[in-house]
Amino acid sequence: MLKEKMLSALNEQINKEIYSSYLYLSMSAYAQTLGLPGIANWMKIQAQEELTHANKFFDYIHERNSRVILKPIDAVDSEFGSVTEMFKRVLEHEQMVTESINNLMDISIELSDHATRSMLMWFVDEQVEEEANVQDIIDQLNLVDAKGHGLFMIDKDLGARVFVDETQNE
Ligand code: FEO
Repeated sequence: MLKEKMLSALNEQINKEIYSSYLYLSMSAYAQTLGLPGIANWMKIQAQEELTHANKFFDYIHERNSRVILKPIDAVDSEFGSVTEMFKRVLEHEQMVTESINNLMDISIELSDHATRSMLMWFVDEQVEEEANVQDIIDQLNLVDAKGHGLFMIDKDLGARVFVDETQNE
């Protein structure tokens, strides 16, 4: 069984991952309104990925014979400004998630919960990748000129993203 402090923090993390999914789904809808189907596709796949993260925590809590408690998911915005502003918001959000994963790691170390620490390593690595991917997109968007030249190509590239459940590749 998980210790109460660890369990409570892991349950909170499920909420954060589902909130992330909800946020990216809203960004996907917003990208559709801007006429950018590729970016809408990228955000929708990002939303799907976040649900796999939530499920990884959900399954882990059960593996440790402990109880999942689901809390309400906060509302998300529906307007995100320019495409660059929207991706900057994604990066800020992912940095917040990274902090949260680091906090979980600190708790697992404090409680000498080696199994949870081992499970969390996957998320530590995943966050490095997520932040790097979003930073790459922001760098590309910074090259788009005032007339929007280049945005079409970025949208086309992001439209090629396909969903892969990376929690299954361990
Ligand atoms: Fe589940 Fe994007 O971190």
